[in-house]
Parts: sequence; C-alpha cells; structure tokens
Amino acid sequence: MDPQVLAEATAALADEPEHSRVLVLARLRRHWPDLLAGLTAAYGARGPQAAAAAARTAVAGALARPADLRRLDLERLVEPDWLQSPRQAGYAAYADRFAGDLRGVAERVDHLADLGVTYLHLMPLLRPRPGDSDGGYAVMDYRQVREDLGTVDDLEALAAVLRGRGISLVLDLVLNHVAAEHEWARRARAGEERYRAYFHLFPDRTLPDAYEQVLPEVFPDFAPGSFTWDDEAAAWVWTTFNAWQWDLDWGNPDVFAEFADLVCWLANLGVEVLRLDAVAFLWKRLGTDCQNQPEVHALTRALRAVARIAAPALAFKAEAIVGPRQLAAYLGHGELSDLAYQNSLMVQVWSALATRDARLLTVALGRFPPKATTTSWATYLRGHDDIGWAVDDADAAEVGWSGPAHRAFLRDWYAGDVPGSWADGLVFQDERTSGTAASLCGVGRGDPLAVPRLLCGHLAVIGFGGVPVLWSGDELAALNDPHWADEPGHAADDRWAHRPRFDPAAAARKDEPGTLEHRVFSALRHALAVRAGLPALHAAVEAEVLGSVNPAVHVVRRAAPTQVLVAVHNVSPEVQRTPWEGRAVDALTGEERGGPELLLRPYEVLWLLV
Ligand code: GLC
Repeated sequence: MDPQVLAEATAALADEPEHSRVLVLARLRRHWPDLLAGLTAAYGARGPQAAAAAARTAVAGALARPADLRRLDLERLVEPDWLQSPRQAGYAAYADRFAGDLRGVAERVDHLADLGVTYLHLMPLLRPRPGDSDGGYAVMDYRQVREDLGTVDDLEALAAVLRGRGISLVLDLVLNHVAAEHEWARRARAGEERYRAYFHLFPDRTLPDAYEQVLPEVFPDFAPGSFTWDDEAAAWVWTTFNAWQWDLDWGNPDVFAEFADLVCWLANLGVEVLRLDAVAFLWKRLGTDCQNQPEVHALTRALRAVARIAAPALAFKAEAIVGPRQLAAYLGHGELSDLAYQNSLMVQVWSALATRDARLLTVALGRFPPKATTTSWATYLRGHDDIGWAVDDADAAEVGWSGPAHRAFLRDWYAGDVPGSWADGLVFQDERTSGTAASLCGVGRGDPLAVPRLLCGHLAVIGFGGVPVLWSGDELAALNDPHWADEPGHAADDRWAHRPRFDPAAAARKDEPGTLEHRVFSALRHALAVRAGLPALHAAVEAEVLGSVNPAVHVVRRAAPTQVLVAVHNVSPEVQRTPWEGRAVDALTGEERGGPELLLRPYEVLWLLV
C-alpha cells in the first residue's frame, strides 16, 4: 500500500470514531491493489496518480456515508452472498410508467412485496436531455432527477422506503455516453480543451472511416454509423448509439475521476446496485469491434475498488450483451461485477419455445465457462430492450441448423409471419424482435396454450439460478401497448411496444380467481416463494444444462451440497415423455413424480428434488 495514500487517508479520517476509521482503512488496504492495478492497466504511467486521486474520492465517500447505510455495509459484509441468495427476486420498470413518479413508486411497494420482489431496477431517472432520450439513456445531468419524477430528496426517501421493505434499489450508471446537452458536451462544443478531451472528436473522416471498417451498428435504422458531425465542435463525434448520445473517452483519467465521485454519491443516496449500462463499449481500439477490450475490465475493477472502499454494500451489474466467452470476463473472479445479464438463456428459451426443441439451448448454455462462485446471473425472459437473436453459427451447426436461417426464422416467427406462429411481436432494426412476453407467447391471440407457454418461459428463468428479473407488466401478462408509437420521438423505436404503462385495473384482477392476471401473478409469486426456500438455487451453485433423450424436454440440474434440484421443462404444446429413474418430489406442487419415465403435460415444468 502506498504510504502516502495511506497517510493522507488516515489524516482525512482523523475525526471519525475509531471503529469507523479502522474499517475504512482496512477497506482501503484491501482494495488499493485493485484500484492501482486497474488504473495502471488503463492509464500506464498516469495510473498511480489517478489511483491516489480515486482513493481520496473513496475515503471522502466513506466519510459522507449516512449512518443507516453504514449499518447496511456491515450487514452486507457479514452476508457477502446476499445477492446470490435464492430469496432474491427482481423487477424492472420505468418509474413514470409504473407509478407516475418516485412518490408513486413508494406507494406501489405493496404490489412488489406481494410478488416477493427484493430488487427493484428503476429505469434511467437521472435528468435526461429534453425530447427523445432513449428511455433516459441520454443523461444531461447525473446529479438531478428527471423533473416530472421528483427530486434527489425523493429518490433518497424512496431508497429508504424500499430498504425498509427489504427491496434493494437498482439504478443505471450510464457510463459509455452522455447526452449531447450534458454540460461536459456543451463545454466541449464551446472549445474548452479540458472537456474536448472527455470525448472522441475527429477533425475529418480519416479515423472514423478506419474504425467503421469493423464497427457493428447498434441502431442501423434510426442512427446509422457510429460518428456524428457537430458543427459547433467542428468535429466528428463518436456516437455509438443515437447521434445525441456522445461517447465518453475513458482513456482520459479525468472521466474516470468524474464517475468515481458519481458512484460514491449514488451509493450514499441509498442505491444498492448499479447497472453498468453498455459497459462493453467503454474502450475503443482501432481494428476491433470496440467492445470487450481488456481496459473495460481494468476500469471496472478500479471503479469497483472505489465502491468497496466507500460503500461496501453497493453491488455492480454488468450490462454486457456479448457472447459466452466474453461474458465471463465481466464477472472476473468477483473483483468486477457481482451480476451480469444472462442474455443467452433469454434468447435460447425463446428459440426452444418457437422450435419445440431444446437441443440448441443445451448446446449454447453448455458452452458457458463456469463463472466465479461469488457472482450471479441476472436472468430474464423479457426486458426493456429488443431481443437480438444471438445464436452462434457453430452452436446451430451442432444441431444441424444454419445460424443465419435460424436467426431469420426466429425474427419471423415472433413477428407472427410464419404459418403456425402464435406470436404477436414486431421486428426491430430488421433482424431483432420487440414485444411483451405475453404477446410473444400468443396471449393476445387467445391461444389456449399461451399461458402455459408463458409460464414455462418464466419458470425456465426463475429456476435457472441467479436473480430473476421480471419486466414490469409481465407479472400481469401485459400485452403490447397498442399506442406505443403515439408519443413524440417513439414512432421509430418499437421497443416502446413492450414498455406498457402499469394498469391498476389489471393489477386489481390479480386477486380475482379465474382471471388471466390471477393465473399468471399467482403462478409467478408461488414459484418465487418456492425458489426462496431452495438451497440448490443459491447462485454459488452452477446450473448444468443437460440434454434429454427427448429434444422437446429441457433439463437443468443444480447440485448444492445439501440438495439436488432437477428442473424439467416440456417446451412443446404436446404431451412429452422422458426416461426417469425412481421417484422424486416436485417442489412446485409437492407431488411425487417419476417411475420409469416422466409424463409431462404441454409446457409443464417440474422442479424435482432428488
Ligand atoms: C443499453 C440499454 C439500451 C440503450 C443502450 C444505450 O443497451 O439497455 O436500452 O439503448 O444501452 O444506452
């Protein structure tokens, strides 16, 4: 540990009670190596200086931490696997669409508690640019809350209300880009050198053209290319996403310093998990697709170290929608993110339901290298984004399919464009899919098997292990919003179809037996409650995706030291049989099943304890 950094920290903590000083210094000593190594990997000779500055920020963050959050830090330090517990159940929503504003969210906590939610991801709510803001992913001011949602005080109060109900508040940290209207971008346009250095600005097309040789496009339809000419800045600006989302230059240690401070500030408001938005894109390297570069992990490691010194209760979730090989690096050996999205499971469950065949699912998930035992997946059937049909060509070939043809099939199937399709989705950017889980399962078309199919999909996620995150409305089988295109700025982005507003009348029906909402809500609530009591669903246990002799049956085994759970899913609309030795109790129904074989109803799911 650098003696000067330690001496400075000791002096800064001089007025703290001894127990607190001892704790913060212990954390500093413990995490300084990660901070220094991360920043040295990213910034070379400038690393140590950046690390010393970040250590000062972290210690200041620890000093500013409110008493109740310091207590939470201690609780989390004695239960370091809190996010891996099978008790965890997530829910994600836009605050305005879910409940009007932040105070409204606080008033709707009973709905979440009824479902068993312990983790609430509120979509971006820090002040976005006016007009279209990509659902808030174009932040204009990270220190303010979106005007119509409330104030920073409301946010802090909401975090406390949620914490009191055992629900962790999860917020986005949009770190790849800021809105073109953000102060940093304005000052860059005004010619301030300090702020020009926060962005990737190019005087002509030479470098943009060279980069674009290999860069994939994220929104080819409404934001083609990855660079945007800006007259005022007199430069081509790197804009991976929309033209008004300016990519930050994380090669500049000043950018790291800004975010280190922001992380401490958000943690001290009571945010418990930060979702690292589009983290894969942070580092640019000519000749590559500018995703998953090693510096991304080095910077995450350093940012995580800052958080662990300042606010150990804070966890990180990586939003990296990348292939299995690249994904494991975001979890590292626990010194990076605690959670990462399990995108492949989502894609493969939809693929299995469309084809009535789980073989590709088995191959694709079988490829995942084991992740660190201290980390978890964030699993989901649907989220706010489109479904990108990330089917690997080699995986498809292994089951005798063509990757490109299967991807096109899934797009068409879920758009309802293939004979026999029950789905009611939309095509997004030519090759991807939008639509709510219920619409994609055919609930809106009155298909009699739509609900069993929908529940099969949800259970495949809830029983996989990790934190299952339900997308707002899915607990009530909400359909696509027919008016999605009406809002200004939304017409070109059909992801808004699956971001419906919360319907209080539908929510009330969850308590009326015989309704669709009751059927779906109670099944999900029951599955989450059963899950909470199953040690085999602790995230430290690795899911083994096993094939079955019957391709329509998807089998996952989770062997904890004290319990073995075998989740069996019939992904087809027909009765299926699969061999099964002996008898076992289904944790979902308490029934004993088995014999020489299992007989499965259409879309039936069993959680067998063996
Ligand atoms: C993430 C978000 C997506 C957004 C993008 C740019 O991928 O999930 O909604 O468009 O980042 O911020």
